Amino acid sequence: MNSDAVQLDVLAVFSHPDDAELSVAGTLLKLKSRGYRTGVCDMTRGELGTRGTPEIRAEEAIAARRAALDQARSDAERRSIDLTMPSRRRWTGAVHPVSAVIDEIAEIFRGLGFAIALGPEIETDWYNFLALNFPADHPAMDLHDTLYLEVPPTVDEPGAGRLLLRTHTSPVQIRVMHASEPPIRVIMPGMVYRSDAFDPSHAPAFEQIEGLAIDEGVSFVDLKATLTHFARRFFSPSTAVRFRPSFFPFTEPSAEMDVECQLCHGSGCGACKGTGWMEILGCGMVHPRVLEQGGIDAERYTGFAFGMGPARITMLRHGVPDIRLLYEGDMRFRSQFTAARSSTGGDT
Ligand code: PHE
Repeated sequence: MNSDAVQLDVLAVFSHPDDAELSVAGTLLKLKSRGYRTGVCDMTRGELGTRGTPEIRAEEAIAARRAALDQARSDAERRSIDLTMPSRRRWTGAVHPVSAVIDEIAEIFRGLGFAIALGPEIETDWYNFLALNFPADHPAMDLHDTLYLEVPPTVDEPGAGRLLLRTHTSPVQIRVMHASEPPIRVIMPGMVYRSDAFDPSHAPAFEQIEGLAIDEGVSFVDLKATLTHFARRFFSPSTAVRFRPSFFPFTEPSAEMDVECQLCHGSGCGACKGTGWMEILGCGMVHPRVLEQGGIDAERYTGFAFGMGPARITMLRHGVPDIRLLYEGDMRFRSQFTAARSSTGGDT
């Protein structure tokens, strides 16, 4: 056997199909690092006799390579990385459906010249009840309905008595009156808290949007026109609305506004309890005593106020049967809203 024949033997072993995972070049390098001469084999027959046949050297190299591969595989398994797994789709976030409705409502009122004001979620009973003309023994002030805090107020505010989690956004009306002069046009979104069970139509914490407009000569006509415009912009241009007489201590006269049921469009269904209407907000002309508590001259100015629950409006719009679905964070529910918004978004 001449030297060319020896080299051919080595390559033949390395290119055996079972060893496809081994590169010839890699194996030759290995052989070289162990002191074997490789490449164009210049070994003599005599040398072959003392250092083993090319087949034996190749087997040694293959075994070494196998061991290295096994080691790499078990290292990867220990780190639980499977590089062959397809990557996970990235989750695309979206605005919460109730927040989206609040933004939309704020946008409609912005078009009518309303600014946005915020007030604290921890209130005094003076702002939450007394300044709003609630009589001191009103049942809404009861421990069963309102979440009081045990800490005493540290701020020196008018009538600061007990601290509570505000039960509505109406106290922000008083704060806005204290902070500004008419003409006033503001909406006041925020969370409110009540000692209610968490059931299909109640949540112990939910959003409200308060509205307030005060100027010379503001009348009930302005209230009706503003809120009707809002309902037609928000739902549809032909949505029917109606005002029913109601009572709130801080407005006189007071009303509740209904919109035509968005599911049956007035013919009567389970969602509207057969009436064809759904209540969306409370409203009325600001009581003169409330204007006075806000430091506004009730002889000169009049105003209207309203308060609505965006969660209920979200339910109406999307036909959501249970308010808890909006607050529980179940992704099977939530992703139905993200899907529509992220369909053009990057999902890389
Ligand atoms: N604050 C009232 C409520 O929580 C709603 C309301 C606001 C009614 C403003 C009239 C005027 O039910």
